[in-house]
Amino acid sequence: MQKKEVRIGVFDSGIGGLTVLKECAALLPQATFYYLGDNFRAPYGSRGEEEILRFTSEAMDEFAALGVDAAVLACNTATAVCADALRVRYGFPIVGIEPAVKLAARSYQRVMVLATPRTIESARLRRLTAGCPDCSFVLHALPELARRIEREVLYGEPFDLGAQLPERKGAEAVVLGCTHYIFYSERISAYYQIPVFDGNFGTARHLALLVRGLKSGDLGIDIHQITPTKNEQMYGKVKIKEKNNIIFLGKAANLNKSAYFRTFVL
Ligand code: DGL
Repeated sequence: MQKKEVRIGVFDSGIGGLTVLKECAALLPQATFYYLGDNFRAPYGSRGEEEILRFTSEAMDEFAALGVDAAVLACNTATAVCADALRVRYGFPIVGIEPAVKLAARSYQRVMVLATPRTIESARLRRLTAGCPDCSFVLHALPELARRIEREVLYGEPFDLGAQLPERKGAEAVVLGCTHYIFYSERISAYYQIPVFDGNFGTARHLALLVRGLKSGDLGIDIHQITPTKNEQMYGKVKIKEKNNIIFLGKAANLNKSAYFRTFVL
């Protein structure tokens, strides 16, 4: 019998979700991915909640029309603002991404979290940090950084990264709570001279487990063998060999496609 191909929609406000797409593609080499970035309305991070829900719903509508098996909100901001609301609306599972505070708190006691204003002020992030009582977190809302990274990666507009980053003030590790920042994982780690953490691998693993439950077919991987490389820190620009069918959607399809292949594919 012909195996049914698994089709997954991946959404972000812009290029940030490409970093998540790469992790998901590495774990699910036989899946087909649709990537939709809303680049011309990015960044979302300082927008109102109603607007973020509306824009993200438009993307989920597009995935629904394509008949995806699952979707990934490859955007911490959209996950924080509207993952719960979307999950009751759509007939396919929606996997979100959250700042990797638990992961950082396993090894460090003073951690700084960098994210967009909407993520930083979200109840979700408060719940996550409250779940790690032995770690002290300093949360920094960065209203500009996602936009600057988007513009540098897509259009080559340089900016001063250090001028966008808050002082370290004794932090031992930094959590990148916005998928855009992962493009600059190495640079941020080098700037502060401390390890960086992100939620990409956790999201990809969650998706892989979900897909196994959905299809219980041979996906070309042994889920039990999925172990994080590089201590789950997964420096952003580790490249993969492209095996997947990836279809880029939306007005910025070509921009995202070229940024993806340029940055992440060997
Ligand atoms: N990449 C997104 C995130 O993870 C959103 C950045 C933005 O659009 O402000 O939060």
